[in-house]
Amino acid sequence: MRTRPLKVALLGCGVVGSEVARIMTTHADDLAARIGAPVELAGVAVRRTGKEREGIDPALVTTDATALVKRGDIDVVVEVIGGIEPARTLITTAFEHGASVVSANKALLAQDGAALHAAAGEHGKDLYYEAAVAGAIPLIRPLRESLAGDKVNRVLGIVNGTTNFILDKMDSTGAGYQEALDEATALGYAEADPTADVEGFDAAAKAAILAGIAFHTRVRLDDVYREGMTEVTAADFRSAAEMGCTIKLLAICERSRDGASVTARVHPAMIPLSHPLASVRGAYNAVFVESEAAGQLMFYGPGAGGSPTASAVLGDLVAVCRNRLNGATGPGESAYADLTVSPMGDVVTRYHISLDVADKPGVLAQVATVFAEHGVSIDTVRQQGKDGEASLVVVTHRASDASLTGTVEALRKLDTVRGVASIMRVEGE
Ligand SMILES: NC(=O)c1ccc[n+]([C@@H]2O[C@H](COP(=O)([O-])OP(=O)(O)OC[C@H]3O[C@@H](n4cnc5c(N)ncnc54)[C@H](OP(=O)(O)O)[C@@H]3O)[C@@H](O)[C@H]2O)c1
Repeated sequence: MRTRPLKVALLGCGVVGSEVARIMTTHADDLAARIGAPVELAGVAVRRTGKEREGIDPALVTTDATALVKRGDIDVVVEVIGGIEPARTLITTAFEHGASVVSANKALLAQDGAALHAAAGEHGKDLYYEAAVAGAIPLIRPLRESLAGDKVNRVLGIVNGTTNFILDKMDSTGAGYQEALDEATALGYAEADPTADVEGFDAAAKAAILAGIAFHTRVRLDDVYREGMTEVTAADFRSAAEMGCTIKLLAICERSRDGASVTARVHPAMIPLSHPLASVRGAYNAVFVESEAAGQLMFYGPGAGGSPTASAVLGDLVAVCRNRLNGATGPGESAYADLTVSPMGDVVTRYHISLDVADKPGVLAQVATVFAEHGVSIDTVRQQGKDGEASLVVVTHRASDASLTGTVEALRKLDTVRGVASIMRVEGE
């Protein structure tokens, strides 16, 4: 074993960074044996000094992250600050000064992954980011390496624990969205400002990263269709239950049937209770991968939290250190397939539409005609009437999102349709 240590600069020492430092210290001997050289924490960059940082030598702590990554003797920079800047500049500076990088930063990777990969490649360094998607769950390496000889057709996942906690609560207790969110906040599952989670931004960043790796195609954050879950109601859960379904916020990355294009989207959807993703409870994450040769694979586990996320960061750190000792680099960006990323209108799926209509003869025929005119075929219709008003629940066969949008626009114009109470896609069948 080499005795000269590999030097690690830790950028950020919050929820994730403090756990990375703790595991590096407590498992130092095992890590050294697995890597073939000791790893030394050479510096820790934070925003504020003066804060007690358990187990960390105060002499290592600095607020000058730039000076730390420019030192020139750092082998690996671990970026767990988050956000776009200064993380982006610090990572590129690290490459310029000879270090490889491990990051947990989904927002940055989804927005600037291509440029960061290019910078890593230019300097012959590694950029690893297993922790950026679904916390502890090994997903990026299986897609990049284990499935490198297969053809992935679909990635369907619950990649945000906060929203899964809220939807699971609504499902199991009949609570409304606000009540379930309040509980998630009180228990620490939701942040004070939950926008990034409940509006699907966090899941969309992960979908962009997953789609890019799965389909060997650059998928930008802007390419991902995004719909949050704040409009999901207790009534939607009752409708889902009547169909033998539950509701999950899903990230869905799909190859088209002709294989020429891909789509990536995040939205709430009904899935059958028999689907493995339906039984993912609480704040857990799970990702279902469908590939040509392997068939269906499911990855499941804790998608966030300091210690689970640090596990993924440490796995990357070991891999990058091994590469470093071997004078090699791991796989970089693979975007050779360069498939077209299609808009949401091209997505083909099934729909559950709940309409408030006048309770009078001929309404059903009128509604059915609108569906037929837009080429959307109806699978089932359920009608409940009361006091001159009725609700009509229509479940369609597979149709394009563009056709469905056209149908709904036309339905809204009918005098007999008082309102469109909800539109929910049905997935996982
Ligand atoms: N938390 C999770 O469960 C989880 C899961 C998966 C991925 N991630 C990702 O991991 C990253 C870190 O998340 P986190 O939850 O650990 O964040 P956090 O608890 O807010 O910690 C951020 C750390 O970065 C430091 N920092 C902030 N601005 C800085 C700057 N300009 N220069 C140097 N240091 C700076 C902070 O310093 P102070 O300590 O002085 O404030 C803090 O130590 C993010 O990209 C996040 O998306 C987190």
